[in-house]
Parts: sequence; C-alpha cells; structure tokens
Amino acid sequence: MERGAGGSGQGGSQFALEQRWMRLALRLARLGCGRTHPNPRVGAVAVRDGEIVARGVHLHFGGPHAEAALIAGAPAGSLTGATLIINLEPCSHKGKTPPCAPAIVRAGFRRVVAAIEDPNPQVAGSGFACLRAAGLQVESGLLARAARTLNAPFLWHQATGRALLTAKIASSLDGRLAAGDGSSRWITGPHARERVARWRAECDALLIGRGTLLTDRPRLTARPRRDPLRALRRELPQAAAAWPHQPVRIVVDSRCRVAAEGVGDSLTVSPTGGPWVVACGARAPQARIRALEERGIRCWRLPEAGGGAGVDLHALARRCAAEGLLDVVVEGGATLTTALFRAGLVGRLRLFLAGILLGGARSWCGDLGVTTLTGRLGLTITRQERVGPDILIHALSPQAARLLGEEEPALPELELRGEGSRRGGT
Ligand SMILES: NC(=O)c1ccc[n+]([C@@H]2O[C@H](COP(=O)([O-])OP(=O)(O)OC[C@H]3O[C@@H](n4cnc5c(N)ncnc54)[C@H](OP(=O)(O)O)[C@@H]3O)[C@@H](O)[C@H]2O)c1
Repeated sequence: MERGAGGSGQGGSQFALEQRWMRLALRLARLGCGRTHPNPRVGAVAVRDGEIVARGVHLHFGGPHAEAALIAGAPAGSLTGATLIINLEPCSHKGKTPPCAPAIVRAGFRRVVAAIEDPNPQVAGSGFACLRAAGLQVESGLLARAARTLNAPFLWHQATGRALLTAKIASSLDGRLAAGDGSSRWITGPHARERVARWRAECDALLIGRGTLLTDRPRLTARPRRDPLRALRRELPQAAAAWPHQPVRIVVDSRCRVAAEGVGDSLTVSPTGGPWVVACGARAPQARIRALEERGIRCWRLPEAGGGAGVDLHALARRCAAEGLLDVVVEGGATLTTALFRAGLVGRLRLFLAGILLGGARSWCGDLGVTTLTGRLGLTITRQERVGPDILIHALSPQAARLLGEEEPALPELELRGEGSRRGGT
C-alpha cells in the first residue's frame, strides 16, 4: 500500500524530504537496469540529521547489494542512529553475497524506510522481521507505486516464473505498422526513437520475429544520444563505464531459416552489440543450428506450438527467465506481437501513435480470436504522454495491472523522474 502524506507542518515536510530521498534511491536503483537481472534493481540512501551521509546501489548481478555498497562506502561512524531509505526490503538470507538485514543492524541504523516488500519467498517479510527484532523502526510503502514500476520485471517473474514481455509498437493513427511495401522506417519521430533507444539500454533483452529481421535487418543495439542519469553516473565511475548497456538480441525463427538468409549486419556478432540468440523449434535442422553456432550465435531449441504455429511462446518466456532475462522488450512485428497477445504473454504495451495515416491491411494487431465485444482483451491505460510530435500510450494487461497495483491511472508526481511525466517527451 502507498504510504500517505504525513499531513501539514513538521510531519508533512519530513514526509516530503523522505519522498525526495526515496526518489534518489529509485534513481540510483535505475543505474542497475539491464545489469542486475535476475536480481532486482535496488538503490539506498543513508540520512542522519536531515543530511545524506552515504549512498549505495546494486550495480550488477553477483556484485554487492545496495545496502552492502552503502555501508562499505560510508564514512566511519556516520551510520550510527541514521535512517536507511531503500526501494526494496533488505534480504535476510545468504545468496551470492551475505544477508543485508544483519549488516544494517551491525552498522548502527536506527530506522529503515522501504518502498516495497521483497516477494522472493526467501525474503518475503523476513528482512523486516530481522530488523524489527533487533529494535529498528521499520516502515514500508513510501513511493511504492514507482518502486513496483521500476522492478516490474522482477515482481512479474516472482509471480509467474516468466519474463515480463513489453510490446513496443510504432503505429500510424490508423493502427498500421508498415506501409503496403513493408517499409516502416520511420513512422515516429526522433524523440520517440530516442525513447526506444533508452528502453533498449535499460532492458535485459530484445525480441523480434524472423519477418522483422528479414524486412528491417535491425541491429538491435542501444544507441541513446542522452543518458537520463548522466549526472548520477558521473559521480559513480563504476556505473559510468556500464553505459549504455547492450541487451541480448533474440530472434524467433522456428526452422532456423535465418542461417541461410542474407540478413546484412543483423546477426553479426560484434563487441558493440549484445549476444544474438535464435529461438527455434524442436524440428529446426541440426545443420542450420550448427552453422549459426559456428558464427557465435546461440540457439535455444524450444518446444513447438500446436498446429505448426511456430515456437511455443510460453516456453520462450520461461526460457528467457531461466536465462536470467526478465525484462524483455518485443520490437515486432505484427505476427509475433499478435501471437504473444493471444497467448496472454504481453504484460506491458508501449504504443507510439504518429500523426500519419497509412491505410492498407498491415495493422499492428492481427486476429486475436475475439469474435464479439464481450470477448475483448482489456488493457489498463496507465499513462499517455506527448513524445515530440507523437503520442505514447502505456498500458498493462489485467494481470500486470493487478500485480503492480495500477488498476487506476498513476499520478504524475509519483512517477520516476526522467521517465517522461514531463510534457514534450525527451
Ligand atoms: N512499426 C513498428 O513498430 C515495427 C516493428 C517491427 C516490425 N515492423 C514491421 O513488421 C513487419 C514484419 O512483421 P511480420 O509480422 O511479417 O513478422 P514478425 O512478426 O517479425 O515475425 C513473424 C515470424 O516469427 C516466426 N515465429 C516463430 N514462432 C512464432 C510464433 N509462435 N508466433 C508467431 N511467429 C512466430 C515465424 O516465422 P517461422 O515460421 O519461420 O518461424 C513468423 O513468420 C515488417 O514490415 C516490419 O517493417 C514494424
């Protein structure tokens, strides 16, 4: 539950300060996007006598947790009696690193303000219990909505065992994804493309269908012009070196046909892009798989969907999660996107609408099997914004909306800074 404002006077200004510190913790946490998976994104701030005395962030999987990084970097004695502001419940179990809750107690903190509980069954309240048992004051729920949004892939994975798939669509006002000849570059303007470049730099993997690979030959690299966290990254050299992160590039191709097709710069293994993966079906010829693997491209052999409908997409979403890839952005095309919606696998939709009409038949969404209005697929629109000349609509599937507590549209002031609650886009 979202912690409410503390009223007027001193309590209110203390609450406003804590909100500001939690926003900083969330921005710190965002530095770990694309690098911490399958761990959550976590940032922490230590405050004493109204001043920030230390900061910490979990920067990559296997590295120190945010609390441990904060404690290690804090000036001696500065944490005694301090408050820890953190976007996720501290862990209480030993994983790749020692448990954080006992370390927080030993460091001398008096109070912990968290945004959300960690649903991981190995934590799930036991971190808070450990802190309380040691006499610390613990509160949870500050900016919970923004914290859930930031860690949506982690929360989704804990709840479903699958990767969170986000469908990104660039569409004309009449819902078309491409012109009659297949051309789709560019439907949206440069502001929208910059936004997409940032999403690429912050997600774990990109997913496309074989049709898009052949038509567009995309490089699927993250090439943002601006870093929304530049100032913060400048202060943290370890984070600066990691920008921009390059996501894993996954192509769904049931028979591994791309092994034999001319795909230009696509499927070229280079240090400037993430690894390529071809997700194929059980009947993909072994010779094609070998040919791809010899070029340094991984192949995931997955079960096939019934009726020759290609790769089993549920198996694909589970395989992504098993590989530690929880935040997967689907960049088309219509055949794959429609199949993912039909299978109930799309958790989030980010739909750009450009002020153009293309006509014709290439709608971004094909047959969903909906024959009557009562059978419609309902989505919760959580936000819409202007991005340069285009409109961006954010929507969630019913399951994702419930999980993220987003059945109602978000209030702009609770959104993460730098993620577009401003008008005019990037
Ligand atoms: N405006 C935009 O945002 C945007 C984004 C991307 C693409 N596009 C446009 O979209 C067009 C390409 O889209 P497309 O619909 O032709 O191709 P697509 O969706 O990219 O790829 C579809 C292919 O994926 C493979 N696949 C494997 N398993 C599947 C499954 N279970 N369900 C669905 N597909 C599966 C199938 O090939 P196999 O049977 O060989 O396995 C299928 O033909 C291009 O014109 C491109 O420019 C536009």
